[in-house]
Amino acid sequence: MIDLVIPDKAHDESRQGEALVLDPVVGKNNGRKLYIESYGCAMNFSDSEIVASILSEQGFETTSDYTSADVIFINTCSIRENAETRVRNRLKEFKAAKTSRPGMVVGVLGCMAERLKAKFLEEEKLVDVVVGPDAYRDLPNLIDQVDSGQKAVNVLLSREETYADISPVRLNSNGINAFVSIMRGCDNMCSFCVVPFTRGRERSRDPFSIVQEATDLFNSGYREVTLLGQNVDSYKWQNDDESQKVNFANLLERVALINPELRIRFSTSHPKDITDEVLYTMAKYDNICKYIHLPVQSGNTRVLDLMNRTYTRDWYINRIDAIRRIMPDCAISTDIITGFCTETDEEHKETVSMMEYVQYDFAYMFMYSERPGTLAAKRYADDIPEPVKAARLTEIVALQQKYSLVRLQAQIGKVQRVLIEGFSKKSKNDYAGRTDQNAMMVFPVDERFKPGMYVNVIAERSTSATLMGHIID
Ligand code: 5AD
Ligand code: SF4
Repeated sequence: MIDLVIPDKAHDESRQGEALVLDPVVGKNNGRKLYIESYGCAMNFSDSEIVASILSEQGFETTSDYTSADVIFINTCSIRENAETRVRNRLKEFKAAKTSRPGMVVGVLGCMAERLKAKFLEEEKLVDVVVGPDAYRDLPNLIDQVDSGQKAVNVLLSREETYADISPVRLNSNGINAFVSIMRGCDNMCSFCVVPFTRGRERSRDPFSIVQEATDLFNSGYREVTLLGQNVDSYKWQNDDESQKVNFANLLERVALINPELRIRFSTSHPKDITDEVLYTMAKYDNICKYIHLPVQSGNTRVLDLMNRTYTRDWYINRIDAIRRIMPDCAISTDIITGFCTETDEEHKETVSMMEYVQYDFAYMFMYSERPGTLAAKRYADDIPEPVKAARLTEIVALQQKYSLVRLQAQIGKVQRVLIEGFSKKSKNDYAGRTDQNAMMVFPVDERFKPGMYVNVIAERSTSATLMGHIID
């Protein structure tokens, strides 16, 4: 199954299963080694950095080799069935490793915790500890419980927890790009989606701790922050007497004002919530990148209604038109689900025509996969045959490849400001970095410029995923 096309940092599922290596231990070394593997969205990777911070305070050191670890955590994703299957297979490998290291603690973190706790702990005896996304502060106690011979579980969801005061330990970091979590949970109840059940109610982190974290990152050399939330446009914070209110546009502005050399990205936007105020704020600041991830899911209003997306095709088109009017150069990416319950061929064609209308720069495309407990699982039959879902997916993947190429080729001959992120994966003779519009640019190394610096690069060629060019003075 083709599940994903053209990765970017915030949605890059190709990063699944990365081992995360800790920076030096913050607290006193306790002689135990921790291994964390993360799956799924950027939020999960960001959460693993919070977990690492909590445990490094306890003296844990990390390792990238799970066979030598004392504690193995796997931060899980349940968004689609195949994500769950992958995690489950990995857990079996960890269980096998445990037989040769009896004191080893194996734990499941994140989105699979609540639904599968009984199965993992009791039935399949795959793990010793299960911890939901709002219970990471409890990890030291839970590990103690396991050490004393018990199984340990905490999957309580919270209405308040934002981990605002925890300074994440940056894992596998290039020292240039970082994720900053600004809110947790989701109240939207899209009918296909498990997130509201696995991550709980939406809550926004206080803006002062966000600005502080971004400022600290800038002062330690970082040059790009991605503000993360399931639905960033519904960010909303107020102080106790309601004399201060901060919405997402205000927050963006506060972060943009930290320093013009700090780039800002964000993900994910919901079409029902993205306001012109946000778009004008983006337009006003050069350091807010002109790139919006705006998942459409379907181009047909009846299907959108079944999905409980709370917008119509016309509403979505209106938002696209507003983006194009206010920021003509803005890149737009999307998520699309093919073969949602009862979707007809005609309705699928409306998704195709939406792609033709918008000409997305990138798209993440999935076949519908029924998730237990969701509104769609309860209300609608998953009635589109697998081959039909797959054929629709193949069609839109091919179309997207065409538009990705078209969009990149439109950049050829133009000069782009690129933040150098490091060497290209293929050659140490080339640097790689992203343009404001989030396109990957590869260009020959010039010793005068180092990773973390901005350079002007002229684009000369492209594939459907990468621009190639050279630095100009
Ligand atoms: N089936 C297929 N795709 C899904 N997504 C979320 N839930 C499902 C599901 N049950 C996709 C949506 C969402 C992205 C993160 O994952 O497109 O925007
Ligand atoms: Fe899931 Fe919809 Fe919330 Fe996104 S907005 S996390 S798709 S419920």
